[in-house]
Amino acid sequence: MSDPGQAKSAGVRAVCPGSFDPITHGHVNIIERAAAVFDEVIVAVGRNTTKNYLFDFDERVALVSDAVAHLPGVSVAPIEGLLTDFCAAHQARVIVKGIRFGSDFDYELQMSQINRALSGIETILLPAVSEYGMISSSMLREVAVNDGDISQFVSQSVNAAVRAKVAERHGR
Ligand code: PNS
Repeated sequence: MSDPGQAKSAGVRAVCPGSFDPITHGHVNIIERAAAVFDEVIVAVGRNTTKNYLFDFDERVALVSDAVAHLPGVSVAPIEGLLTDFCAAHQARVIVKGIRFGSDFDYELQMSQINRALSGIETILLPAVSEYGMISSSMLREVAVNDGDISQFVSQSVNAAVRAKVAERHGR
């Protein structure tokens, strides 16, 4: 008999989309858990036109690639247009996103409904593990800009990149 704890969805490719400005341990935890369930995971780095980014698009793609390089079955690609078009082009059947608290749920519910209306794609929401439930990229940017230490929340290379970017932008 197969072990349900080990079984994966046969042949299903999932997409983990996000802005990743920058990628945190919380993001990597969601990507690792998606990779444990699905055969293949594409981490899709996108633009949200309502956001002001610390890192430009290419920098975010490079930092994400570095942060998930240790994960077999996980690749990284930029989203050039709509996420639903990206999923269709990559033959991905499901979007996976993490949620930490109620406001995440409200936002992701609406996003999942729009994406489903556009293309029929399903979204699966993974609850954050408690140790990462308070991490958000926006809060880490705020801590870093004010000379705080974010090293416990991000990889060494992301921490170094954030410090360099803050120094460049704010002359510190
Ligand atoms: O980390 P974020 O900011 O929640 O990620 C948002 C992202 C990049 C996944 C989202 O903005 C997105 O899917 N962008 C691609 C453009 C798109 O499809 N927008 C319509 C969805 S409302």
